[in-house]
Amino acid sequence: MPIQNLYFQKLPVYESLVREAKRMGQPQFHLKNLLSNKNRWQDFSRRQAGILLDFTRQRLDKTVMDLLFQMASDLNVLQRFRSTVQGQVANLTEKRPALHTAARDFSDTRLLYKDMNVTAELAKIRNQIKRFASEVRSGQIKGSTGKAFRHVVVIGIGGSHLGSEFVATALAPFSDGKTSIHFLANVDIHNFGLIASEIDPEATLWVIISKSFTTVETLSNANLVSTWMESLGLDPARHMVTVTSKGSPGDDPDRPVLATFHMFDFIGGRYSVTSAVGGVPLSLYLGYDIFERFLKGAHDMDSHAAGASEEDNLPLIAALTTFWNTSFLGYQQQAVIPYCTLLSRLPAHIQQLNMESNGKTATADGRLLEQPAGVVIFGEPGTNAQHSFFQLAHQGRPFPIDFIGILRPFYAEYSNLYQGVTNHQELWANMLAQATALAVGQPNPEDPARHFPGNRPSSLIILESLQPEDLGRLLAFYEARTIMEGYLWGINPFDQFGVQLGKTVAGKIREKIALKNSNPDRQIDYQDPLVRVHLQRLLDSRPD
Ligand code: F6P
Repeated sequence: MPIQNLYFQKLPVYESLVREAKRMGQPQFHLKNLLSNKNRWQDFSRRQAGILLDFTRQRLDKTVMDLLFQMASDLNVLQRFRSTVQGQVANLTEKRPALHTAARDFSDTRLLYKDMNVTAELAKIRNQIKRFASEVRSGQIKGSTGKAFRHVVVIGIGGSHLGSEFVATALAPFSDGKTSIHFLANVDIHNFGLIASEIDPEATLWVIISKSFTTVETLSNANLVSTWMESLGLDPARHMVTVTSKGSPGDDPDRPVLATFHMFDFIGGRYSVTSAVGGVPLSLYLGYDIFERFLKGAHDMDSHAAGASEEDNLPLIAALTTFWNTSFLGYQQQAVIPYCTLLSRLPAHIQQLNMESNGKTATADGRLLEQPAGVVIFGEPGTNAQHSFFQLAHQGRPFPIDFIGILRPFYAEYSNLYQGVTNHQELWANMLAQATALAVGQPNPEDPARHFPGNRPSSLIILESLQPEDLGRLLAFYEARTIMEGYLWGINPFDQFGVQLGKTVAGKIREKIALKNSNPDRQIDYQDPLVRVHLQRLLDSRPD
């Protein structure tokens, strides 16, 4: 198999950036010195599309930034992003466009794909969601025993779960408190058991979300729920809706449910929260109008990402900092630390969005890479993260951080002062302190245990507030940034073949377990002794 350097490594600007990375490693370019430059703020901050990006604490200067812009331009990153939004085939391995941006385009732009006017079709589905959510929320559509629906449970995993959970958590202050939302993602019975103990089944609407309708966890859970509902004397069909691809096994008129909403192959799971995947559960939970406001914010950021010049383009600048940190400065990890409890599920969503998109070992045109692409993403809300893994952030292996701050919180009525400041001000003091302390450090040659090396990069991403529009902008910022990172690395950010092998192996193990279940006396003949030893303990409860 031909092994390939990443395409960007062949460009002349690559060698210049390699040289600059060496220069940035010299002590005089420590962040504490870079930060004392009087133009630092003007040069390395941008306020666009409702978001302020402060990248003053990244380990770069104007020379580096100019070379990075040069690289983006040599690789046509923005042009490729624009073509993607316009419906060109961006997912090369699967030969289809990637049109999640069309899900929040309220214009009458005609985008044709396989004889379908994509924007018109997606608008039709939004109307279907609006009508259905309003009928459920007003009590016009009821459960099989006549009770109004008060609980919504999403059955779905990965892209059919994480986006809606992140948004539902972030927009919880907009809930009227009449409908609760739960997420049954894991095939782990504890997930179901806990939800079952919290809901009234007669007043529960199950939203089964699966693009393929072949995902075993989702089908296993849907089956479990049906059986459970029947055992309670309830008609599962009158308590279920599906969100799935047209013609999938879940889009079966012979197995009716209350409603079916379609998703399409041109929107990947991890990019799908602004389609029916997020639309159905979020509109049931919060009302359609809140969902639409969220979409409009996402569209604002899409317009910025596709329209702004390189120098002002927030997703591009953020993508370039990741690219610089990973491919030139050698950082393999990146943390996402929202200083906002409402964004507690953002890191989990970005993990899938970014790592499933860019964790690749082949170029977009099908050649094996010398070094795999992608970056390891993790995160927790601040200040909690400070009391958890920030020891390592300050003194152990360094990793770049996205600090996310919200200027105006909800609940401003609770403005108690402690040590002269409100809770929200204390939160901000901590976020700013962490970014500064990581960058500047504090040398202590006498006492290595108390030595802070500093020079640890981070960016601040600041939102005005957490209105649905702000959240939409934040989501679309991370989506566009992820795609632009993929275009810089020369990989396809829209496929995910890497998840298949584990599924196939699980299938083989499942077959053995099913055989044993059907005949408990059967000896398992699984060839791999290291798997067999565990299965024996699981199935026979045999001591070692
Ligand atoms: O296993 C990964 C994956 O294919 C994701 O890409 C996807 O979001 C998730 O599984 C769920 O897939 P589906 O919506 O088809 O059930």
